[in-house]
Amino acid sequence: MGAAMADDPFVLFDAWLAEAEASEPNDPNAMALATADRNGHPAVRMVLLKGHGRDGFMFYTNRESDKARDLADNAHAALLFHWKSLRRQIRLEGPVTLATDAQSDAYFATRGRDSRLGAWASDQSRPLDTRETFEARVADATARFADGDVPRPPHWGGYRVEPRRIEFWQDRAHRLHERRLFTAQADGMWTEGLLFP
Ligand SMILES: Cc1cc2nc3c(=O)[nH]c(=O)nc-3n(C[C@H](O)[C@H](O)[C@H](O)COP(=O)(O)O)c2cc1C
Repeated sequence: MGAAMADDPFVLFDAWLAEAEASEPNDPNAMALATADRNGHPAVRMVLLKGHGRDGFMFYTNRESDKARDLADNAHAALLFHWKSLRRQIRLEGPVTLATDAQSDAYFATRGRDSRLGAWASDQSRPLDTRETFEARVADATARFADGDVPRPPHWGGYRVEPRRIEFWQDRAHRLHERRLFTAQADGMWTEGLLFP
């Protein structure tokens, strides 16, 4: 059985991501993250997948951002990968938990110095009067940490989406597209079915 026919959604995800990494010019790990606030109002934005496996799909962000507020009020999310040139999408949905401090520290340490300084300088999702204000805050952070390492800000960290539902969509000729839906069962096993496209 070839990888494309894998009946394990995590194996199939790895195969599709590997193909995207080989062919997509930019950010093959980019995914849309949908959240909903306490009133059920949805919002969606792109984030980068930074680690994944059977225990979840990770992204990192400012924990005072709008998405973080949504997740504090309603700890469920949907993720969407769309690889246009491969004509494929993967949808994942499930509950969200915080990454541990150790995980957030480890990922933060892999970021470039400018990105780490930017995490200190940005009040992500808050109103900004002018671009100069942000640039001045980057300069402040640069001066503050001039002599050493840039630690992870306390308001910055990871989230883990634990998928309960994973759907693979693939373009087929004559609009006979294929949709394979994997659903987690209470015992941790996964069942698979097809959906009308
Ligand atoms: C390709 C792409 C990747 C992005 N990756 C991230 C990310 O990993 N983390 C993040 O906080 N924002 C990322 N952003 C910015 C978000 O889309 C968004 O503007 C920001 O997180 C604020 O969202 P919010 O106000 O809904 O919280 C990315 C944007 C793009 C276009």
